[in-house]
Amino acid sequence: LFVLGIESTCDETSCAIVESGHRILSNIVASQEDIHEKYGGVFPELASRRHLDVIIPVLKKALETANIRLQDIDLISVAKGPGLIGALMIGMNTAKGLSVALQKPFIGINHVEAHLYAAMMNLDHRTLSFPALGIVVSGGHTFMVKILEIGHYQLIGTTQDDAAGEAFDKVAVMLGLPYPGGPSVEKLASLGNPSRYSFKAGYVKERPFDFSFSGIKTNVLYTLKSLSPSCLDVEKKHIAASFQEAVCGDIVKKSLKAIQHFGCKALFLGGGVSQNERLRHLFQMSFGSFPIFWPSKALCLDNAAMIAGLGYHQFLKRPFSDPLDLEPSPRISLL
Ligand code: KG4
Ligand code: ZN
Repeated sequence: LFVLGIESTCDETSCAIVESGHRILSNIVASQEDIHEKYGGVFPELASRRHLDVIIPVLKKALETANIRLQDIDLISVAKGPGLIGALMIGMNTAKGLSVALQKPFIGINHVEAHLYAAMMNLDHRTLSFPALGIVVSGGHTFMVKILEIGHYQLIGTTQDDAAGEAFDKVAVMLGLPYPGGPSVEKLASLGNPSRYSFKAGYVKERPFDFSFSGIKTNVLYTLKSLSPSCLDVEKKHIAASFQEAVCGDIVKKSLKAIQHFGCKALFLGGGVSQNERLRHLFQMSFGSFPIFWPSKALCLDNAAMIAGLGYHQFLKRPFSDPLDLEPSPRISLL
């Protein structure tokens, strides 16, 4: 079964061709960093316009790279949300148009669920052991779920304020680093001392598996303000390192606790922040031989291969098209 995946939830326009949920024949991603950089974050209206400009060229390139024709596609799988409404509409309408023109079914997929699926994409599904812990740490979302099977989740914890990636992006702006912030903070942090400052991620009263990253962000801001201009440049790398250490350490600590508490047999991570090498290192140090699965770096960020992959599995369970009046859902949750 050849599935065309379409992703346009935020600031990446992507089309992919994936065979039977696993074999990625193409995964073309057009990033919009150039237009959002000067705003230090995504400018929604500009994002929608760029999606509209590039979606057809991206689709053509995905077909060309996979070396298949439009008529050979069996299913169209599109990210229906959560995301920016204007951006989502471009992908959704493209999917509907193709579905009508080609007389092929289309299916709307939850983007954050697809982030979790990305870590399973290269695995033999017969060997997966559930329940497992799933963690998505991206620019828009941070949550932990107990995965009972693909498509069946129980929410364990979520963020009370900023998503992990959002905190990285905001701290990057404070440090005067280029957009997108996560990779810039990681780069600067690699030169600094992570124990120079004792930043702490938030603890949410009576919700031990929830996250809070807005306090640490304010802490970074006040620390920067308290420094004299002469030592600011030297200290920035230590601030980046200490901030990264606190955020990553918090995610690892809460994951360990959740695995014990919920009897999980494996851990799946996804989302942009799961690219972070320090996070991966801390997980590996704390979890020993416990099975942890990460997406390849290309599959951590927003991409259409994960949308196509998950679409395949959902279609196997429910083999009919979504209705043509399916609306994009800017705010859907996972459950
Ligand atoms: O998953 P993603 O592409 O988009 C969303 O669905 O939100 O994640 C993007 C987020 C951004 O906030 C970016 O700064 C962060 O992931 N990110 C990182 C790293 N690479 C990307 N954060 C920390 N370290 C990184 N290496
Ligand atoms: Zn995403």
